[in-house]
Amino acid sequence: MNIVVVGAQWGDEGKGKLIDILSKDVDVTVRYQGGSNAGHTVIVGKEHYVFHLLPSAILRKGKVCVIGNGVVVDPKALLEEMDGLQKRGIKISPRQLKIAVNSHVVMPYHRILDGLREKMREHRIGTTGRGIGPCYADKVTRCGIRMIDLMNPRVFSVKLKDNLREKNEYFKKVFGQKGFAFEGIYNEYMAYARRLKPYVCDTALFVNRSIDDKKSVLFEGAQGAFLDIDFGTYPYVTSSNTTVGGVASGSGVAPTKIDKVIAAVKAYTTRVGEGPFPTEFDHKMEEEIRAKGKEFGATTGRARRCGWFDSVLVRYAAITGGFDELAIMKLDVLDELKTIRLCTSYKYKGKIFTDYPHDYEVLCGAKPVYVDMPGWQTPIGSIREFRKLPPKARDYIERMQELVGVPITYISIGSERDEIIVR
Ligand code: IMO
Ligand code: MG
Repeated sequence: MNIVVVGAQWGDEGKGKLIDILSKDVDVTVRYQGGSNAGHTVIVGKEHYVFHLLPSAILRKGKVCVIGNGVVVDPKALLEEMDGLQKRGIKISPRQLKIAVNSHVVMPYHRILDGLREKMREHRIGTTGRGIGPCYADKVTRCGIRMIDLMNPRVFSVKLKDNLREKNEYFKKVFGQKGFAFEGIYNEYMAYARRLKPYVCDTALFVNRSIDDKKSVLFEGAQGAFLDIDFGTYPYVTSSNTTVGGVASGSGVAPTKIDKVIAAVKAYTTRVGEGPFPTEFDHKMEEEIRAKGKEFGATTGRARRCGWFDSVLVRYAAITGGFDELAIMKLDVLDELKTIRLCTSYKYKGKIFTDYPHDYEVLCGAKPVYVDMPGWQTPIGSIREFRKLPPKARDYIERMQELVGVPITYISIGSERDEIIVR
């Protein structure tokens, strides 16, 4: 069974926890897009882990983790993550971690450019500043440096020189900045290359052969449907296909090999960074939910914006993502509320929108239409069976399911590994 897990909102849906649970029964876990902008949290007992580039399944012994070709790999960030785990007693071997030869490498100038471009914009995106956008841009404009290039000093040298020639001019003329010296970057990246070499291979072949050998594969999505470069709230998005389509191009595994798509959503909505957010709370409510849900970015520590569950968004994500199942995360965060609102459609200039409107003006001006559901106002963290949930909590879940049109099969009611209801 080959499963894809994606986020269906603006990221931070709790994919890390879901993947950690699902990975128990799979052989291979694959990241296929994004980079160190991701922040996937897994809590095991007193231990708290945040993964940025490594697949969340790295905690499970004997499972293979793959960083696919669609990922942009920052070798510095990756090695720091690996060293951090090693210090906590988790050793990673080349048998356990595989990095795609054709994945693109995040360079120091990508990180700098990410920040400079943000400063220059009138309307900032609020990126994570990890160089993700500029690295994907280089990939598409065909001047990117891939893992395999890094493994060959002659090729790397030529490509780096070429890049610096152009980029240093750009840094000087557009931003009035000094630019980069070749030697420093060359030596730094050659040292990374020596350390990463044992892990680098053709991961598309590896994953396809694993599938041929009847192994099961879990594809770990990063970010969420509305951060997708094509289907998201453009331009307030990330630079990759976060939706299920990204699996095929980002791992080299054909869509025909995917058996199931599970999407994670929060029982409410959050967003980090700028951009439209129709169901965003007022200040007081936001403070309350942010504190209860510990809504601070796992990568940048920024306070997350919070709002009601938006079924216009998730319904659209379900259609474009072909969701088979939905996992509702962090339901317990709503435990104390007297009334819980569910957005069913938007109203803008007298017109009702039940389908996601791509028009920026509509998204910014949309007034959400809500149904109000009574809250259950009792802690649910110790419950492990759906039928034992308070009737009002079950009603809320059933209503969400109806609005999105996808069966809800997982309900998370706490941050620990076992705090989940499987239906
Ligand atoms: P996980 O995998 C939440 C957001 C940034 C910004 C926009 C573009 O933890 O769900 P980028 O640095 O990617 O160019 O920033 O995307 N963003 C995320 N928000 N969770 C993430 O990942 C995110 N990755 C990027 O805040 O608005
Ligand atoms: Mg995040």
